[in-house]
Amino acid sequence: MDSSALPENTELPKFGQSWEQVQARLCEFQAMDLDPQHMRLLTGIHKGDEEVEKVRKQAFNMYFDSNGITADWEPGLGRMQAEVLAFTVSLLGGGTTGCANITSGGSESIFCAMHAAREWARATKPQLGEPYGIVMPRTAHAAFDKAAHYLGMEMTRVPTGADYRADVAAMRDAIRPNTAIVVGSAPSWGLGLLDPIQEIAALAREHGLWMHTDCCVGGFLLPFMERLGVKIAPYDFRVEGVCSVSADIHKHGYGAKPCSTVSFRDEELQQYHFTGVAIDNWQSGMYKTHGLVGSRPGAAVAAAWAVMNYLGEDGYVDITRRAFDVKNRLVAGLESIEDFWCLKNESLLIPFRSETLDMLNVFGGLVERGYFPWGTFDPMFCHPSGEPVGDLPVDMFLDDMREIGKGVREGTITAAALAKYIG
Ligand SMILES: Cc1ncc(COP(=O)(O)O)c(C=O)c1O
Repeated sequence: MDSSALPENTELPKFGQSWEQVQARLCEFQAMDLDPQHMRLLTGIHKGDEEVEKVRKQAFNMYFDSNGITADWEPGLGRMQAEVLAFTVSLLGGGTTGCANITSGGSESIFCAMHAAREWARATKPQLGEPYGIVMPRTAHAAFDKAAHYLGMEMTRVPTGADYRADVAAMRDAIRPNTAIVVGSAPSWGLGLLDPIQEIAALAREHGLWMHTDCCVGGFLLPFMERLGVKIAPYDFRVEGVCSVSADIHKHGYGAKPCSTVSFRDEELQQYHFTGVAIDNWQSGMYKTHGLVGSRPGAAVAAAWAVMNYLGEDGYVDITRRAFDVKNRLVAGLESIEDFWCLKNESLLIPFRSETLDMLNVFGGLVERGYFPWGTFDPMFCHPSGEPVGDLPVDMFLDDMREIGKGVREGTITAAALAKYIG
């Protein structure tokens, strides 16, 4: 942790301050944080373009104080939530039987799917014995390990093939008598590659397992790439055997954080999500929430609905096309710099690395220039993302990368600045 992230004051101020004083401090804090321009092409923040940003913020502000916990009883917010979920199920090939819940993000969606799968295993496969096992490629998101820990499940991460995609034969070998779940990513967070979902789903069918596709990044990206004519092997409910899908609205859905969805093939599977956690034995009657959390921002639902209606299918297709134009410029620019090459994948992520320069020094150069060092360690890739932006962030990033390449080659740029993040 950066030492400036430690508290300066540890007691609640005795007396309140004016808004002007508080605002001035907020501005100081903002100036200490990562510059939004430097974050514009980095995964973790997906803003869309300026118009989308405006719509998202205005809708969010209209519902700023609302609590999504009551959405199912509020005709306005409830209708918006139901539509957002219906749009999502439809985009994910869920047809007339698919159903979905709103959550606060990919991690919660994954937690909910793993919980439902565990309850399904308890109800339909008690003979497997606990702890139930999850088998998934090494590249799947860390949120699955968190879920496995909270839920008392056993995690087996399986090395990928040389192409960094799930090795389905190795996953088959990793299946044990207690295995209940297999997972694939569409695409993975680290390298933006799609796992062979159809093959993993066939494995699930063969062994009677629950199959989850993690579409947190791809849920609102891959459908529009397909509409642009990109050939992508099916990854969602179109694939027989896929039981649940996580898809984040706050990533390429360009909604406000926190907003994600967890979808189920049908209501029977969705019901396992509520097993044991739809509570009616307390003094306030039935308590049944969409995800793990209780109170949540209704504003995120309003923002999601507003952006989805503002863009429509053709708007998403257009914004996806523009984001790919930016990705293509970045790939060409990076590969024109001596020593760097980009991994080809089916998403907006641009994993790049060098075989000749020490990537730790490259990350050091990025941190020196105000970027956050997103990427992977093994193998070491840095991974900016194509976003629908104008020229400025693209030119700035490529200029910085040219300087970094030269500095690392000449030994004037080192990994020193990285110590702030990795000790
Ligand atoms: C593929 C994938 N799954 C899950 C997550 C977790 O999502 P969140 O950070 O919204 O909890 C991420 C986050 O980047 C992701 O890329």
